[in-house]
Amino acid sequence: MATLITAGLLLLQSIGTNALPFDNQLNARQSSLVSCLEAGNVPITISTYSNYTEYQESYNLRLSYQPAVITLPVTTDHVSLSVTCAAAAGVKVQAKSGGHSYGSYSSGGQDGSLIVDLENFNTVSLDNSTFIATVGGGVRLGNLALGIYNQGNRALPHGTCPGVGIGGHFLHGGYGHGSRHWGLALDTIVGLDVVLANGSFVHASTTEYPDIFFAMRGAGDSFGIATTFYLQTEEAPAQLVNFLIDVSAVLDSVDTATTAFMTLQNWVLTSPLVNGNLSFGLYTEGTSLTITGWYFGDLSYFQSTIQPALLQGFPTPNSADVTAKDWLDSLLFIEGGSPPGPLAQPLTGYNSHDTFYAKSLVTKNAEPLTQAAVQSFFDYVINTGRTQSESWFTIINLYGGLGSEINQPSNTSSAYSDRDSLWVFQNYGTSGTAAYTQGITDFVTGLNTAITDVQTDGQFSAYLNYLDPMLSKQDAQDLYYGADLAAQLLTIKNTVDPDCVFWNPQSICAN
Ligand SMILES: Cc1cc2nc3c(=O)[nH]c(=O)nc-3n(C[C@H](O)[C@H](O)[C@H](O)COP(=O)(O)OP(=O)(O)OC[C@H]3O[C@@H](n4cnc5c(N)ncnc54)[C@H](O)[C@@H]3O)c2cc1C
Ligand SMILES: *[C@@H]1O[C@H](CO)[C@@H](O)[C@H](O)[C@H]1NC(C)=O
Ligand SMILES: *[C@@H]1O[C@H](CO)[C@@H](O)[C@H](O)[C@H]1NC(C)=O
Ligand SMILES: *[C@@H]1O[C@H](CO)[C@@H](O)[C@H](O)[C@H]1NC(C)=O
Ligand SMILES: *[C@@H]1O[C@H](CO)[C@@H](O)[C@H](O)[C@H]1NC(C)=O
Ligand SMILES: *[C@@H]1O[C@H](CO)[C@@H](O)[C@H](O)[C@H]1NC(C)=O
Repeated sequence: MATLITAGLLLLQSIGTNALPFDNQLNARQSSLVSCLEAGNVPITISTYSNYTEYQESYNLRLSYQPAVITLPVTTDHVSLSVTCAAAAGVKVQAKSGGHSYGSYSSGGQDGSLIVDLENFNTVSLDNSTFIATVGGGVRLGNLALGIYNQGNRALPHGTCPGVGIGGHFLHGGYGHGSRHWGLALDTIVGLDVVLANGSFVHASTTEYPDIFFAMRGAGDSFGIATTFYLQTEEAPAQLVNFLIDVSAVLDSVDTATTAFMTLQNWVLTSPLVNGNLSFGLYTEGTSLTITGWYFGDLSYFQSTIQPALLQGFPTPNSADVTAKDWLDSLLFIEGGSPPGPLAQPLTGYNSHDTFYAKSLVTKNAEPLTQAAVQSFFDYVINTGRTQSESWFTIINLYGGLGSEINQPSNTSSAYSDRDSLWVFQNYGTSGTAAYTQGITDFVTGLNTAITDVQTDGQFSAYLNYLDPMLSKQDAQDLYYGADLAAQLLTIKNTVDPDCVFWNPQSICAN
């Protein structure tokens, strides 16, 4: 960890653009903000305190920002005061939950914001008659999964990394291998306690503050701070099939890879074997290609019937790890680390980082990828990818296809409107602990354009949780929400937060 921190500081100095430390001289705005917070006994840290760095550091060390003040609220009044003091001082606000924003927006996305770090909102409690979990806005996914499982054998669909926070993840989508079966994490939210821009504290649901409830689910970063989540849980399956199949030989030629992918795409769109019990994603970094997923069903049926059909277009696997596991072991399996875990995450002092840039590409069921687009993608992966000196990967997750619960809710049920998605690509380049280079950005951009330049009428969109900080605000909103939904969100924003107290470089805001 020490090496990571050192590398991060060096990086910050070498990039320079965002590295304008506030240092010892607090400006007038910041000192009025600090007085207001101190008058309300809100726990804070500022750059002159030795405990600042621990809270200031973002997960993505490529984008490091210097908040004017970070508050560590213990009560909802503290959250309210954080917001009203910042609004009065003309300082922008963002919440921080797990801190895994790809754009470091939970550090403000600029220097000089106020960050409301929710790490003290860390409880998980399960009502075992309604099976609704009441979860603090700072809980990390591993602690959430353990909490509801241990209290009542319950489960939720959500992402694979136990350090990711509920706040960003659940409010902006939230995909995992439970999602084709149970829906996105966002769709399990039945209520939210929210602090609004005027400091008021409300409970939002389909019947109370329905506009806030609508906007928070998909655009939470722009509309309020969710201090508590109410989540409808599912019974944890006793066993499910976990698979990790290595089909790297498919990358022997561009044609082999293209044919295999087109066969797979046709299968997920047409086969009666494909339903909400099956989930998988493809992972490649140019020389290897693996298919990982879950099947909610019987191991022998999966092996005899589903697996051969899933792999019909692929060469014989190099290896296939296919086993039935209980729920917690299944969560560890898809983490993909060796060794994985643990699910239990620290409540304070979380200190994992990467230095990276990522782009996403969401494709539509109604517009399957064309043969030419797939060919172009694998040509780039194989012929350009293998000459790349920096680390990168692509994950292609199946969101759509037959029977997917992700696409069941109506596209007007929340501010997450992508309800006709087929594949979601995450293209990710990293320098690890070394300094970031422009070549990574160029390469990752090329992974996207290999498809979009060829299938120009593909109606592609982007996934908000893999947010792309290099997009302009306009392009980001078009890709995340589409013009109509973005306009609808702006109308709500102008009512509840006309001064854009909740702000990041891509947030909903008139100016
Ligand atoms: C290692 C890793 C693995 C990942 N795996 C997956 C995966 O499997 N599936 C998937 O879908 N995504 C995955 N992601 C992406 C992840 O879902 C997003 O980065 C997510 O937004 C992170 O949530 P967070 O709370 O940790 O982030 P934060 O950085 O704390 O927050 C992100 C944004 O949400 C806002 N926010 C946070 N909390 C609140 C709140 N309580 N109220 C209002 N606004 C809030 C912040 O202000 C910020 O704008 C992964 C990311 C990483 C880094
Ligand atoms: C950080 O340190 C300062 C100075 O010692 C202290 O006043 C403050 O309460 C600390 N903040 C947190 C969040 O621990
Ligand atoms: C339900 O919750 C109560 C109170 O928390 C607890 O005592 C009881 O053991 C729980 N029952 C089950 C089946 O988990
Ligand atoms: C999943 O499989 C079970 C049997 O294991 C079956 O009852 C159920 O209908 C399947 N779900 C879907 C969505 O097809
Ligand atoms: C919802 O889907 C309908 C039908 O496909 C489409 O016309 C409309 O634009 C979509 N709305 C949003 C907000 O995406
Ligand atoms: C704060 O904003 C909410 C949402 O717009 C509104 O319902 C409430 O009346 C406002 N409270 C005050 C004190 O202005």
